[in-house]
Amino acid sequence: MAGKKPRPLVAGNWKMNGLKASKKEAAALLKGVAAANPKCDVMLCPPATILSLFAEVCRSSKVKLAGQDCHANTSGAHTGDLSAEMIKNAGAKACIVGHSERRADHGESSTDVKRKAEAVYRAGMMAIICVGETAEERKDGKTLKVVGQQLKSSLPQGADHKNTVIAYEPVWAIGTGLTPTPVDVKKVHGYLRKRLIALLGEELGGKTRILYGGSVKASNAKELMSVDNVNGALVGGASLKAKDFLGILAAY
Ligand code: 13P
Repeated sequence: MAGKKPRPLVAGNWKMNGLKASKKEAAALLKGVAAANPKCDVMLCPPATILSLFAEVCRSSKVKLAGQDCHANTSGAHTGDLSAEMIKNAGAKACIVGHSERRADHGESSTDVKRKAEAVYRAGMMAIICVGETAEERKDGKTLKVVGQQLKSSLPQGADHKNTVIAYEPVWAIGTGLTPTPVDVKKVHGYLRKRLIALLGEELGGKTRILYGGSVKASNAKELMSVDNVNGALVGGASLKAKDFLGILAAY
């Protein structure tokens, strides 16, 4: 594909981890990022309860914040839910939608994910839309079919390289220490790139970042991040400690 490669993004998804005291870890990360100045965008996705606290810590830093999920509506009677507007108001510039843990634990379909991504756009943020196959789907040789379908059904009208990032996270690689081989990653990311170009056109589809996620750590980051069409990482466990996360950022 012609054209400049998009600037990579490495985002740390803290999932259901982190208390107010974790701001020490965020501060250590900022310090490390300022010193190392990696050639990528850096993002943290803390739980919503400490988003505004982290926003204060990250003020005037290059590290940006994202939410982990949002409701599709702006406001209303949805006990326990948070709208994209609330996530933005707490200090986020982006929001993850369709993480496999949401799809599995909360039965979210790609149609739900698309509505959430639309809400993220409406709030003026960037959507990080996750796709990925289960171990069973992979065993059955359905990986490309599954991720292609999830992409097509989760991606809203009006998606482009500025408001959207795709994250390929094989479900079986999340939190397991297992990763696909670089050859497998290349195959899936190449396919997602083709599908993005088909859906958004050569220009926007070519520039939209596709992150890899699933057991990324300092020791495998460089190899995974150098695969064609891998434009960064979505990191879980290894993003909780600044030292580990900085080890991953060193790939850039
Ligand atoms: P791990 O890096 O812990 O495997 O998690 C990946 C992930 O789900 C990030 O969203």
